[in-house]
Amino acid sequence: MNVLTIFLFSLLSISKAEISSKIGVNYGQLGDNLPSTARSIELLTTMKAGQVKLYDANPEALNLLSETKLQVSIMVPNREVSSIASNQSKSDEWVNQNVLPYYPKTSICFLLVGNEVLSDNSAQGQKIWLHLVPAMRRIKRSLQTQNITDIKVGTPLAMDVLETTFPPSSGTFPSRIRDAVMVPMLEFLQQTNSYFFIDAYTYFPWSSNPNSISLDFALLRGNFSITDPVSGLSYSNLLDQMLDSLIFAMSKLGFPGIRLVISETGWPHSGNIGEEASGANIFNAAMYNRNLIKKITAKPPLGTPARPGVFIPTFIFALYDENLKSGTGIERHWGLLHPDGTPVYEIDLPGKRATSDFASLPPPKNNQ
Ligand SMILES: *[C@@H]1O[C@H](CO)[C@@H](O)[C@H](O)[C@H]1NC(C)=O
Ligand SMILES: *[C@@H]1O[C@H](CO)[C@@H](O)[C@H](O)[C@H]1NC(C)=O
Ligand SMILES: *[C@@H]1O[C@H](CO)[C@@H](O)[C@H](O)[C@H]1NC(C)=O
Repeated sequence: MNVLTIFLFSLLSISKAEISSKIGVNYGQLGDNLPSTARSIELLTTMKAGQVKLYDANPEALNLLSETKLQVSIMVPNREVSSIASNQSKSDEWVNQNVLPYYPKTSICFLLVGNEVLSDNSAQGQKIWLHLVPAMRRIKRSLQTQNITDIKVGTPLAMDVLETTFPPSSGTFPSRIRDAVMVPMLEFLQQTNSYFFIDAYTYFPWSSNPNSISLDFALLRGNFSITDPVSGLSYSNLLDQMLDSLIFAMSKLGFPGIRLVISETGWPHSGNIGEEASGANIFNAAMYNRNLIKKITAKPPLGTPARPGVFIPTFIFALYDENLKSGTGIERHWGLLHPDGTPVYEIDLPGKRATSDFASLPPPKNNQ
């Protein structure tokens, strides 16, 4: 092949699996008051979401999604990771049951193996850590057996996979997972040209440290320029710092080029009584998500200081408040929509509306 043929060929293979440059939404269903799956998919379409991320491989959703242009991300539940890791037939069976009946009519583009597996520090959870990458390899092999090459296999991880994040250049993985899990995972992601899926919430570092991190910095607003003394890179917001700490951690292990997907991000719009001071309110949630959308949908893409100009596929958490989630009240109030399908606050997923076009919201109490 001459250079031009190779070039055209690579263009073709890229365009086949091209990831939507539109914002995605996480469709969690841990609620007993949520609209039907059909209505939910209709709402996602009306909102002009580009992608939807499921926490399972719900047959009804996957069937209905074939009628839409939405790109779809499906998930192997954590409880199936170990058996898939040890048994190729089990992996083939999973792909046969959860991918083949829908693909390619349903535009499945990401197959995620487990959810935040490395955040489960229980003895049982830690056993699964070592099964994670073998399970990802087996699922990839099952897809290859079916000649499916344009579904990327990954696994969403939380920011707690990093031991240090500040300044971003200090980003490192802790030794307990570095050699045993992260190195083989990064090898897999690189070999398969897949993505590192990171759940990145500026809300949590800010709310646990509101005196040392500015709320504006966490809400992606204001005019900051915070220089990393080692890299010399300058940061205008906390999300870029978090993403770059991951990029630096990967680079230190010899993997500087693995692309990122923000598999979850967002801001809570409410909490339980007594939690108001934590910055969980409609004003901040609207501010964060609107600024996020502007940032991610900017053309040409902004990227981050360590990786400027690179588009980062992003999924907002979440479509609805989920009233069956455990934890503090904040955990149940991340939704873009009320259970009746009306918006909690105005949002424009395509990112075309100017901030000044949104009706003004009541400012929060205590300036938070
Ligand atoms: C592997 O999985 C297949 C399919 O589920 C099952 O029939 C078989 O018994 C499993 N093998 C082992 C050794 O567990
Ligand atoms: C995959 O492609 C190969 C080579 O073209 C072909 O022999 C095989 O039957 C295909 N397998 C499936 C499951 O389509
Ligand atoms: C932001 O800060 C820079 C440097 O401090 C300054 O030059 C610029 O005018 C500021 N921009 C706005 C919109 O305030």
